[in-house]
Amino acid sequence: MASTSQLNLYIQLILIVGLTVGLLLSKRKKLVQHGWLMLILTLLNLASIIVVMAPVAYQLLTRLTLSSFSLITILHASLGLIVLYLSIRLLTIWRFQKPGSTCYRMKDQMLKLYLFWVAEVILGIALYYQLYI
Ligand code: HEM
Repeated sequence: MASTSQLNLYIQLILIVGLTVGLLLSKRKKLVQHGWLMLILTLLNLASIIVVMAPVAYQLLTRLTLSSFSLITILHASLGLIVLYLSIRLLTIWRFQKPGSTCYRMKDQMLKLYLFWVAEVILGIALYYQLYI
């Protein structure tokens, strides 16, 4: 699992950079590009959960090692589920339309999602070091 997990680590770093570029795009009012970039990041996140994180989580839970229940694992997994739910919800509301008042009203929620997502990725990197380094 270490090599796919290493690939996943790089994906997590791309997500952090991508999220920050997305934030800058929203500040420059390039909202369509912002929406599309967030869609790509959400799909990348979903793929990394299905291909790497869910199988590793399954292994950890069946092996029941101490790291299965470490604070980092629990926080990372909980934030991950919240991020997945919120990002899919936002994209479903957007549905590729011209960003309007509904999107603007969700601005505060997006900022929270951004912060949760960055925290989740940082914890994911810490978990990688706990498991493999
Ligand atoms: C799904 C992941 C998304 C994340 C993580 C995200 C993140 C953010 C962040 C961090 C901000 C800045 C908030 C602030 O300045 O307080 C923002 C603003 C905004 N985003 Fe998103 N966003 C997402 C999806 C979308 C989508 C799909 C749209 C639709 C095009 C959208 C439209 C907007 C708009 C209209 C603003 C306000 C821009 C302004 O202040 O003028 N966002 N977003």
